[in-house]
Amino acid sequence: QKDQAWSGRFNEPVAELVKRYTASVDFDKRLAVFDIEGSIAHATMLGAQGIISAQDVTEIKRGLGEILAEIEAGQFEWLLDLEDVHLNIERRLTEKIGDAGKRLHTGRSRNDQVATDVRLWLRNVVDGTITGIRALQTSLLDLAEQHAATIMPGFTHLQVAQPVTFGHHLMAYFEMLNRDAERFADARKRINRLPLGAAALAGTSYPINRELVAELLGFDSVCQNSLDAVSDRDFAIEFNAAAALLMMHLSRFSEELILWMSPRFGFIDIADRFCTGSSIMPQKKNPDVPELVRGKTGRVYGHLIGLLTLMKGQPLAYNKDNQEDKEPLFDVADTLLVTLQIYADMLRGITVKADNMRQAALEGFATATDLADYLVKKGMPFRDAHEVVAHAVKAGVRSGRDLAEFSLAELKAFSDTISDDVFDVLTLEGSVASRNHTGGTAPEQVRRAIAQARVQLGR
Ligand code: ARG
Repeated sequence: QKDQAWSGRFNEPVAELVKRYTASVDFDKRLAVFDIEGSIAHATMLGAQGIISAQDVTEIKRGLGEILAEIEAGQFEWLLDLEDVHLNIERRLTEKIGDAGKRLHTGRSRNDQVATDVRLWLRNVVDGTITGIRALQTSLLDLAEQHAATIMPGFTHLQVAQPVTFGHHLMAYFEMLNRDAERFADARKRINRLPLGAAALAGTSYPINRELVAELLGFDSVCQNSLDAVSDRDFAIEFNAAAALLMMHLSRFSEELILWMSPRFGFIDIADRFCTGSSIMPQKKNPDVPELVRGKTGRVYGHLIGLLTLMKGQPLAYNKDNQEDKEPLFDVADTLLVTLQIYADMLRGITVKADNMRQAALEGFATATDLADYLVKKGMPFRDAHEVVAHAVKAGVRSGRDLAEFSLAELKAFSDTISDDVFDVLTLEGSVASRNHTGGTAPEQVRRAIAQARVQLGR
């Protein structure tokens, strides 16, 4: 029993199975760097406040530095008997430096310690996520720029609606990602507050200086209530919620890439290095990456519900339930960061089949609205114009022709306000060029949006 930091009170050893059930070291050792960073700041503060000696602080820093090196070199021996990352590191420190190591935990509990570790780790993840989003946005801009004037059918209900430019379509995702980055930056504000000093739950009787620790660790402020500081994980749930929204956007995008790569659409091809074949069908080339992104969105959603449920029944203050926050959070972070990276690369491997896109736009009466608008501009009320064009479309469906393929005489039969300038609006190019306002699909607007986006991203 002397292996455990809290053993004095117990009359029998903890059952082997219980030890394994309650230990978290197998996964929370991932927090080691942040645990050490937090401990160094805590010890520095204890020294500055005269709670431990300057000599102790020096020893602690040296010892923790050596431990960090051991961990990084893969030489650190993690013991299940020591339960978690915190007790493992503390025990090793004491082995190395003796009594000074035993003084590190003065005025601190694992409860405020773990909350601090998770926040430090998550802050780092959020910064990586925002960097990943920006890299993906840069890929999007590069592709959108090449296709500012490439015409494709825009869809509603997955039925051809109106022509749009492919660049415009891609820039829709740029906007979604912008909001995602905003959400992570906003969540960061609430992540970046210091729990240390809350101790187990009530604070501590030592003359600590929490503001100093916050400053040393780069926190913006300190958590204002000790009970809240050790118990709530809302900051982590917020991160997961932002992650779920980001994955939702990437899942939608993936769904489109998958459809577009299907020969029935034939709008794009995805480079071979992002696809896989079939073990039975020799001809196959499958868009596995976007399919997996769509699939992994499910696990990120699942973790969000998991964390919300983990938190919902907990009375104040710390409960061991919270140990269960780590594996889902690690999984969300890993999923997110690798997905962003692979997505940015994959966009650079997309080949656009502009002819097929154009052909598809020609096949669905995509300029029917333009014909109605043309009639309105000649003085016809919109509802009447809508009806006139509906008849023209019906005739087109019957004869298997697009509106632009009718002769002027044929068109005049639907309304004699139609004259030969009608063909300017019936073309795909005329249609997109006419939507020339902020947020519209005209190539000129798409180029403007891309230029603005580049300024925003600072390149
Ligand atoms: N491994 C624990 C966690 O992840 C650390 C805090 C444990 N505190 C305690 N009093 N058992 O939450």
